[in-house]
Amino acid sequence: MVSIWSAPANIALIKYWGKKEIQLPANPSLSFSLQNSRSITQVETDTSLKAGTWTFSYDGKPNAVFEKKLKIFFDRIREELSVLDRQGLRIHSKNNFPHSSGISSSASFYASLALCLCELENHAVNRTPGEKEFFQSASRIARLGSGSAARSVYGGFNLWGQSDIRGSSDEYSIPVNTDIHPDFSEYRDAVLIISSEVKSLSSSAGHALMNENPFGPSRYSQARQHLKTLYAALQKGDHTTVIKITEQEALTLHGLIMSSSGGTLLMTPQTVEAIKKIREYRTATNSKCCFTLDAGPNIHFLYPDNEKEKIHNFIRTDLASLCENQQWIDDHLGAGPMKHKNFSL
Ligand code: DP6
Repeated sequence: MVSIWSAPANIALIKYWGKKEIQLPANPSLSFSLQNSRSITQVETDTSLKAGTWTFSYDGKPNAVFEKKLKIFFDRIREELSVLDRQGLRIHSKNNFPHSSGISSSASFYASLALCLCELENHAVNRTPGEKEFFQSASRIARLGSGSAARSVYGGFNLWGQSDIRGSSDEYSIPVNTDIHPDFSEYRDAVLIISSEVKSLSSSAGHALMNENPFGPSRYSQARQHLKTLYAALQKGDHTTVIKITEQEALTLHGLIMSSSGGTLLMTPQTVEAIKKIREYRTATNSKCCFTLDAGPNIHFLYPDNEKEKIHNFIRTDLASLCENQQWIDDHLGAGPMKHKNFSL
């Protein structure tokens, strides 16, 4: 039996930064899934392998770093997924975006892997869950690999973490697309690759630092308030509020990283220069664009679909020179994971 799924990367507007117990978020987060930037994973049961063992290749090659992380992940989910012990598994995965592009590959990877494992498990125990139940379990399993992966099992906007929004949970994410204003259901993301160097602060180390950060408790209540206000603004089509909160969230994330013990600086002079240019452009042209950042120097430049031509022009004339080798990725809000017949994107 073989299962092949691709899952998208996602970009958070309300950031998950700080966690408790096993991958439970300290505050709710809200993201949207991208369309083009994806991981694809194939999991095949193989009776020639000893039951309970597995092999893994990334981009056609063994990868010791991933394997170590996978071992921890499998130990976490082993009790729930009998398929891990029934047969041997051969796992292959690859991404269609550069590894250090500022797009988190762990979210799309764990989401695609969780979808395969849930499908194989259902087959093994002869269970046919409804669509909602299937994706919910995949989100919960993905979360145990990487927190933000919980948000990559659905298309469009996703909410992960307990909040006032009905159905939300710390255990898994839920899609929140029904009342989103059309301006945002066609939102676009140009990922400006300022530097492709491997991150100097891993997400897990960053989350851990939040336990001692003196601003932790106030940050978590700010995120809750931001979520309410941003979600309402996404529904109303209130760009002013979306821009204000999205940028404040990005800068707060970096503020928290700087104010944690050891104070890490992840923005480079080019990041700061690009942010200034984006803000100047917005004022000068009345554009509805804004930026967000993950825990790194690269910029996710967000804008509505009807500004695409002008924004692409602006990137080419003013921002590309700040990017490493003029590189940027043209992406947009997408439809979510896909089941595949072949291991190709
Ligand atoms: C800054 O999900 O990568 O991108 O749960 O330790 O795997 P782990 O962390 P991860 O953290 C993502 C943090 C972020 C913000 C976000 O995506 O919400």
